[in-house]
Amino acid sequence: MKNVVTTTELRKSFKSKKGVVEAVRGVELHVGEGEIFGFLGPNGAGKTTTLRMLATLLPIESGEAMVAGFDVKKQPHEVRRRVGYVSQAGGGDRLSTGREDLILQGQLYGMSTTDANARADELIDDLDLGEFAGRRVVTYSGGQRRRLDVGLGIMHRPDVLFLDEPTTGLDPQNRANLWELIRQLSGSGTSIFLTTHYLDEADVLSNRLAIMDHGLIVAEGTSRELKQEIAADSVVVSLKSDEGCSGATELLRQESYVSHITTEADHLRLYVDDGVAALPKLLRLLDGNGIGVRTITLSEPTLDDVFLRHTGRSLHKAGMNQRNGDSE
Ligand SMILES: Nc1ncnc2c1ncn2[C@@H]1O[C@H](COP(=O)(O)OP(=O)(O)O)[C@@H](O)[C@H]1O
Ligand SMILES: [Mg+2]
Repeated sequence: MKNVVTTTELRKSFKSKKGVVEAVRGVELHVGEGEIFGFLGPNGAGKTTTLRMLATLLPIESGEAMVAGFDVKKQPHEVRRRVGYVSQAGGGDRLSTGREDLILQGQLYGMSTTDANARADELIDDLDLGEFAGRRVVTYSGGQRRRLDVGLGIMHRPDVLFLDEPTTGLDPQNRANLWELIRQLSGSGTSIFLTTHYLDEADVLSNRLAIMDHGLIVAEGTSRELKQEIAADSVVVSLKSDEGCSGATELLRQESYVSHITTEADHLRLYVDDGVAALPKLLRLLDGNGIGVRTITLSEPTLDDVFLRHTGRSLHKAGMNQRNGDSE
């Protein structure tokens, strides 16, 4: 697969009254063509700063970045034409209508009035903006606003779309709608690079993701890879008769795919590398030895376990501590 974003040793620091903030401290990233790439991290991790450098909105302090086939430092104009960027706050002029904003955006990218009109109509149709595109943006709900923002971001048909916290502050229904829209865009060939501090969003929506903390990438891969890397799946087996427990423990201890077993009251807890593969083997083994199983449950580690393993704290808690800037 071709990469649409590659960075090496990307860095950025800000000088403020309180001193120097090293916002991005040597980031290495690879985003594949057509991917939905998730950039997960707590507030203050450096996600927005990274995204803004890649979208040419902030000068790169040091390091290299290639976006849509061009060098961000040397060919920023080529990059700018090929990327769309939707900021955390959203764009557009609140006093004009969504349709007017779309047309203006097209014109900013050099489209003729006729082309901009045609493209705006196309997007209003594709993104389901029809109901509100004729109203002033100031009257939009959060969900409508975000849909328009996405429209503004793709008005000039970019190869790569950067979305900064696209669903922050949206209710579950609107989040689900926006996820659907993002999948639809991805399906039509646009590569998507989105930031989020929601574990489930990174987990469910992205094909691959990177976890960022304190200006550094601490892990990168598919959600499944990241989870497998850090922890085994756990399988809880409860038996029909309690007497079977010790026999079952002895039996299972011999199996190469079982890395650890604990016995708790009336059930066994096993740790295995790949729960899905282990489950049928476990059942066959117990059944073959006349040990009846009452229930068996498999649980995977979560992305929060992944975050915890790499940073020593829970993203859930890290997020909670820094909610101040959030619009939720
Ligand atoms: N313009 C700026 N001036 C000073 N500090 C900044 C500026 N922009 C971001 N920062 C700081 O850089 C760090 C990373 O911020 P940011 O990239 O916005 O993180 P995220 O998007 O992951 O929440 C934070 O400590 C933030 O306060
Ligand atoms: Mg941010």
